[in-house]
Amino acid sequence: MKCAAIVAAGGSGSRLNPDTPKQLLPFGGCPLFLWSVNVFLKVKRITEIAVAVPADRIAQFQQAAQGIPNILWATGGVRRQDSVRAGLRATSSDLDVVLVHDAARPLITPQLVDLLIDTAHQYGAAIPVTPVTETLKAVLHSRVVRTLDRSGIFCAQTPQAFHREMLQRVFESVPPEQNWTDEASMLEFLGLPVAVIPGDRRNIKITYPEDFQYAECLLGQTSKE
Ligand code: C5P
Repeated sequence: MKCAAIVAAGGSGSRLNPDTPKQLLPFGGCPLFLWSVNVFLKVKRITEIAVAVPADRIAQFQQAAQGIPNILWATGGVRRQDSVRAGLRATSSDLDVVLVHDAARPLITPQLVDLLIDTAHQYGAAIPVTPVTETLKAVLHSRVVRTLDRSGIFCAQTPQAFHREMLQRVFESVPPEQNWTDEASMLEFLGLPVAVIPGDRRNIKITYPEDFQYAECLLGQTSKE
């Protein structure tokens, strides 16, 4: 089986640092986006890795990845889905499964990736999810409207894995003007099934400055295991 990983690193990351995208910021000794690239490199079935980066930062990313062989560079777009589509275009058309991953999630493992590939190979699409642990409130104008039933509600992580051909067709079929925060939601829109596997609570998405510190703590724990 031949697979590709698409790393979405095309965002501005401006919530964290107005000058440098968060994907390039140092984390545990190397730029954040390289953590997931290095995990994908360990998975034998992944034969291609495409990284979508902001158009004006390509040289910086390439410099940061010096010495890492065969990265396919793609020019990211305004929205996440535009970056992922550019990454998909950079990959070969004869692949079985593609994984789409947020560069902002450095703490993935080869085990999680392997299980996603197997599950997507079997069912067409697979995503990791974790149960919601907090009580959910609907809020309007600074007031609680109601408490939502959290049973059956999960948080979606990345990587998300798909038959390549299907993901290609999905991108061609969904309304392009709509914003999608992940690829699975495009499949749901089209009525296509998406399988779930248990996500990893350590696979956090770095969004705010304190997330960096938390992820560094998790990294310390993981390396001791
Ligand atoms: O902004 P957010 O944290 O939701 O972004 C999730 C991932 O999508 C990040 O890794 C970010 O770099 C990527 N992204 C992208 N292209 C964009 C916007 C976000 O690749 N235009």
